[in-house]
Amino acid sequence: MFDVNKIRKDFPILSKTINGKPLIYFDNGATTQKPKAVIDSIVRFYSEQNANIHRGVHTLSREATILFEEARKTTAQFINASEEEIVFTAGTTDGINIVANGLNLPAGSEIIITEMEHHSNILPWQLWCERNNGKLKVLPINDDGTLQINKLEQLISPSTKIISVAYVSNTLGVINAVDEIIKVAKFNNIPVLIDGAQAVPHMKVDVKDLGADFFVFSGHKMYAPTGVGVLWMDKKWLPKLQLSKAGGGTIKTVSFERTEYAEGTLRFEPGTPNIEAVIGLAAAIKYVNTIGIENISKHEHTLLKYATEKLNEMPEVEIYANHLDKAAVISFNVKGAHPFDVGTLLDKYGIAVRTGHHCTQPLMKHFNIPGTVRASFAMYNTLEEVNEFTEALQKSIKMLS
Ligand SMILES: Cc1ncc(COP(=O)(O)O)c(C=O)c1O
Repeated sequence: MFDVNKIRKDFPILSKTINGKPLIYFDNGATTQKPKAVIDSIVRFYSEQNANIHRGVHTLSREATILFEEARKTTAQFINASEEEIVFTAGTTDGINIVANGLNLPAGSEIIITEMEHHSNILPWQLWCERNNGKLKVLPINDDGTLQINKLEQLISPSTKIISVAYVSNTLGVINAVDEIIKVAKFNNIPVLIDGAQAVPHMKVDVKDLGADFFVFSGHKMYAPTGVGVLWMDKKWLPKLQLSKAGGGTIKTVSFERTEYAEGTLRFEPGTPNIEAVIGLAAAIKYVNTIGIENISKHEHTLLKYATEKLNEMPEVEIYANHLDKAAVISFNVKGAHPFDVGTLLDKYGIAVRTGHHCTQPLMKHFNIPGTVRASFAMYNTLEEVNEFTEALQKSIKMLS
């Protein structure tokens, strides 16, 4: 049974006080807190198992390698992939860059993204376009934050070589109809990259079911350490995607004349990886599996519904994408107040929310605003915390008016 009070005890940081008040952490879209199981896995690694992986014959190296490769299996199962398709990266941004630089697209190619993308899913493509005379095409959104999917076909041309879209918007929480996008893309023979950074913490993801070509996410947004992420790619891409980074561990043989690279995912993991973070990622996945992603989703949705209802009762508050068919993220503004001021006042009450453009400046431009206040929930947040938050917000609004 889902027991939020029991879950909270697994997260040491939640007993911290901020400005004399219990911490209320609603900045989960930026990064989540870590359960003891994850923290312990890192301490255990350095206390008992630390060695470099893959090429050592000594016991410790073999043990560390086994742990690392077991983490690959755990990660693969988590998104219903095969372990041969899992590349460990430094995070979502790294994964997108590896794909953008590895596709070897012909000069002049067109790339389709959407108006709500995180900068990490804009800039790698934009850079590629700048250097290769390419063109970035943007699928617009409606004012409720949903994509204008009916316009996708119009954007596609014979030069379209990839569509790269977020599964869930980090700023709005809107869940995109990626299945429809993938269907249109497949019909037109265009590969698709799904930025799953904000999807995996909140909902079940099955990459086989989705049928995209690439799926990327970060560990730290789903209770794992920073500095680790995953690039899943359909098997057919493994021999095709060119290397943009090379180094130790990626090869079969090296001579000054010619290098033969390893096959499979290892060729995308040059140098010593972030071993402890990969092990921490596996611990986080096991922890999430114990709680159950469906239970997490349900709980977060209850928080979303309750918080949305309470905020909608405040005439001074304007919510963007004001509906409940989304992940547990609420972006809003207090009319006449700058989001930074709202965030700073909330911090006085121990409440951590994110303020600003959330690395989605083009989306801010759509709404013609400098930024928003974003409350994003995780499995350990409670209805009581939502009450505290809305009370603190009421008081802040009074102070600002
Ligand atoms: C939708 C989305 N894409 C990409 C990123 C970048 O993730 P990272 O900084 O972990 O590489 C984020 C982070 O906020 C995100 O929310």
